[in-house]
Amino acid sequence: MVDIDSQTRTDTKGQRFEELHRALETDTHAPLYSQRMENGYRPVCGEGSPDAQIMFIGEAPGAREAVFGRPFIGAAGHLLHDLIKLYKIDRKYIYLTNLIKDRTPEGRNPVESEINHYARYLEEEIDILRPLLVVPMGRLTMSYVLSRFRVPHENARVVDMHGEVMVGQADYGRVKVVPLLHPSAALYDSRCMKTLAHDMRVIHAVATELWLLH
Ligand code: URA
Repeated sequence: MVDIDSQTRTDTKGQRFEELHRALETDTHAPLYSQRMENGYRPVCGEGSPDAQIMFIGEAPGAREAVFGRPFIGAAGHLLHDLIKLYKIDRKYIYLTNLIKDRTPEGRNPVESEINHYARYLEEEIDILRPLLVVPMGRLTMSYVLSRFRVPHENARVVDMHGEVMVGQADYGRVKVVPLLHPSAALYDSRCMKTLAHDMRVIHAVATELWLLH
């Protein structure tokens, strides 16, 4: 596997993304690599503008995402895209990715060893983009992101914290974190749509305030 850490920091963002894709493709040590190969799946890197400063982070790719190797192209993804469009947030300001880059067996929740392994890819995406607004979706991603940006969050639950604006710290400065209910929740319970719409309004307001939509 290519050692991401040893990469020269003078690379352009595009080069670093290419390198990241290559490293993930050839990561035979990844805990879900054999599941990837057995099912004919592809690893799923993030997608979006290399200049985006708003990062949406889901948990792990679904089956459709793993077949095509692209994030958020299934039912939950369509819902997320619709919400983003509804609130007139241009896709050019957004980067979409996941905490885990391979589909888990039967879509089960990722386990700690998987999070520990795949986090290096998310960390590289964060290092390349230096997002100023981060939107974690799902419990495990929220917990990872809040720890990562040093926001105190003992026993935090998404149901209690979604739509809240929190201030985190990165080595490149302050970062706003706004957890979002995972859009897949609305596929099972349509009442979640109201909550998602409310939280997306908050995200739009924070992005506007930070001047990230220009
Ligand atoms: N759910 C996620 O968390 N990520 C995807 O890419 C698709 C569905």
